Amino acid sequence: MLAPMAGYSDAPMRQLAAEQGALWTVSEMISARGLVLGGENESLNLGRPYPGEQGRVVQLFGADPEVLAEAVRRAEAWFSPAAIDLNMGCPVPKVRGKGGACLLQTPEVAYDLVRAMRSATSLDVSAKIRLGWDSDRSLEVAQGLAEAGAAVITVHGRTSAQRYTGEADWAAIARVAAAVPTPVIGSGDVLSPAQATERRALGVAAVMIGRGAVGNPWIFRALAGGAPAVPDAATRAGTALRHAELQDTFYTAPDRHRPGELRRASMRPLRKVLPKYLPDLPELHPALLQAETLDDVRAALAPVLATRPAGPRGPAVGVAGSRA
Ligand SMILES: Cc1cc2nc3c(=O)[nH]c(=O)nc-3n(C[C@H](O)[C@H](O)[C@H](O)COP(=O)(O)O)c2cc1C
Repeated sequence: MLAPMAGYSDAPMRQLAAEQGALWTVSEMISARGLVLGGENESLNLGRPYPGEQGRVVQLFGADPEVLAEAVRRAEAWFSPAAIDLNMGCPVPKVRGKGGACLLQTPEVAYDLVRAMRSATSLDVSAKIRLGWDSDRSLEVAQGLAEAGAAVITVHGRTSAQRYTGEADWAAIARVAAAVPTPVIGSGDVLSPAQATERRALGVAAVMIGRGAVGNPWIFRALAGGAPAVPDAATRAGTALRHAELQDTFYTAPDRHRPGELRRASMRPLRKVLPKYLPDLPELHPALLQAETLDDVRAALAPVLATRPAGPRGPAVGVAGSRA
């Protein structure tokens, strides 16, 4: 599964992951209040699917049962998700006072939220937790979430206090998987297909991959079909360009200030992503880190793209459409 990652797991990244075999993907977190108050174009982009998208979970954060229930109704109507997830892991202060990992301190509030969300939809409602706020309470919290009706529970094997430091505690994740009746997905530090396979064997229903999939959608292909994990530089450059093309297609929109004209998508949000496709070619990074337009990305990648063998330019190393 592709993990929810604010600033990363948008429609273009989800599309590349799904094409390479990711079974499920999760949107970036979306503020329930933002959705309900409406008019936030950004929230719409956060939840909007790409054409034909399937198997995508929409993640909401919030702390008020009524607001979350209404947000679930809107998310279902607007974004056609496969399921709805409650964020109980974000340690960022902006989110904390309003939900996220804060809910690990008052889990009974989270149980009420799950019940309220379930009452608003017939879709599955899941929750994604960390081990606890500053100590491991994951067994108790997961049990309570299961009793409240969460269909799936994802556990990121760190406390909120740890943020992203230290190592994810997969023994703790395995304890939760063994104890609760609902499927448990494990998250944290899966950077290679071999690690994913090892961790699957700990009894989790699935493994979630976040940072290990940035600039590396092939990690899902390797898991789905056993094909070699990382293709050659020309293929990776082709996929980096495709990521930029998907960005352009998804975010280019009518210009509100100049009727009849389009406002082309900026490549700025991809500056942190594109070099990750080509870690072995640092000489290309300065140009990628300054790219503003799709043409800039094309020009930056040109030296490597020129080495690609002639042939159809579809999704790189295609298992397009196959969802293992
Ligand atoms: C940049 C970034 C953004 C994240 N955003 C979210 C989010 O919106 N919702 C969420 O539940 N987790 C979020 N996470 C946590 C990831 O989903 C995941 O649990 C964590 O990164 C550990 O997995 P990894 O080592 O495979 O990245 C984020 C992580 C990162 C690095």
